[in-house]
Amino acid sequence: MHQEQCIKDNLYYVGGSDRRQRLFENAYPIPNGMAYNSYIILDEKTILFDSVDKTVEDVFFENLKATLGDRPLDYVVITHMEPDHAATLGDLLNIHPEMMIVGNAKIKAMIGQFFDFSLDHRFMEVKEGDTLSTGEHTFKFYFAPMVHWPEVMMVYDEKSKALFSSDAFGCFGALSGNIFADELNYECEWYSESRRYYANIVGKFGLQVMNILKKLAALDIELICSLHGPIYRTKEDILACIKKYQTWGSYSPEDEEVVIFSGSVYGHTEDFSTLLATLVAQRGIRNTKVLDISAIDVSYLLSEAFRAKVLVFASSSYNGGLFTPMENFLMDLVAHNFQNRDVFVVENGSWALTAGKTMREIIGQLKNVNISEETISIKSLLTKDQYADAVAMADKIVEYLKK
Ligand SMILES: Cc1cc2nc3c(=O)[nH]c(=O)nc-3n(C[C@H](O)[C@H](O)[C@H](O)COP(=O)(O)O)c2cc1C
Ligand SMILES: [Fe+2]
Ligand SMILES: [Fe+2]
Repeated sequence: MHQEQCIKDNLYYVGGSDRRQRLFENAYPIPNGMAYNSYIILDEKTILFDSVDKTVEDVFFENLKATLGDRPLDYVVITHMEPDHAATLGDLLNIHPEMMIVGNAKIKAMIGQFFDFSLDHRFMEVKEGDTLSTGEHTFKFYFAPMVHWPEVMMVYDEKSKALFSSDAFGCFGALSGNIFADELNYECEWYSESRRYYANIVGKFGLQVMNILKKLAALDIELICSLHGPIYRTKEDILACIKKYQTWGSYSPEDEEVVIFSGSVYGHTEDFSTLLATLVAQRGIRNTKVLDISAIDVSYLLSEAFRAKVLVFASSSYNGGLFTPMENFLMDLVAHNFQNRDVFVVENGSWALTAGKTMREIIGQLKNVNISEETISIKSLLTKDQYADAVAMADKIVEYLKK
């Protein structure tokens, strides 16, 4: 059944939420489901912003029908061609053969890769800074290459002051009736998922995020309509969105806290990790965390790395190298261009301690990451003599947190 919602005046939400897929894009756990947002403005001409993932296609078409009534669909703007939004484009064209597809040259080329329908007389190409009027509304196009695909663009509506931001400012999680961030328990229940979405989907492209933020700074934005998660409409929420993207885009830590990533087969490394956390906590640091990298999906680990100021990697040696989940996590940090942290390395092994060297090699690929010179090398179990090393490491962690 259709469940469209009015956002403001003639701007409607026509997207849908899915709670049955366990992984977003077959990669990221989505225990709270996922929203695939789509927006329509009923001006003199009608204009739709992106379609949706196949999983919510039915409700999307019902919403669209209920909103449009007998009116034609004049324009559909494609802000990027990733299938979690564009997979429905072919079906949309079958229902609305009258529609004109609006996009940039790269989007046009990509439509040709995903679909075999003809774009003759059906595609309106826009360039950076171009405008399109639908009557009372005038839309301006801002290209955001590599946030997070090459063809991404954002669209600003001068009348409603809405920014259609594509995937930027998106969040994991299905929407349940309340589509605005100010109607949700946002800080407690959504903020960390917004960070996890950023870190995993956009995190690699900090430079490009900072570039688009510079362009957006000149705009008077009253609504942020992202393709995933809640809509932001209060001044406070919009400022908070920009601020968090500035922090994450520049790879700056959010919290003066330490996370100890612990990779342990039999529990001895884990025991050390808890000892180190205890020593740090006893020095007045709050919210110190030990995370078991075997148990926690890497998307959450990456998000925690984006959040905290100091990171400790403690791992067992494994097959002449590094415990596989730790290796996977560190490679993910490299893949996401992770930067700007103070880190510590702790290794464990029973015959040939290889974890420390392997961790240093991988972490060495990260820009602007200061690896503490000393590695604590545990031979199976921490010795009494090594307790002092743990104390020294805790002191240094506190020093880095406070600098
Ligand atoms: C599959 C496997 C491979 C291992 N490879 C190594 C190794 O290459 N070098 C080494 O010193 N220890 C190796 N170990 C042993 C553990 O790293 C060692 O016992 C360590 O103390 C375990 O710490 P933990 O109690 O935190 O898991 C391996 C263990 C397993 C299960
Ligand atoms: Fe995307
Ligand atoms: Fe998306």
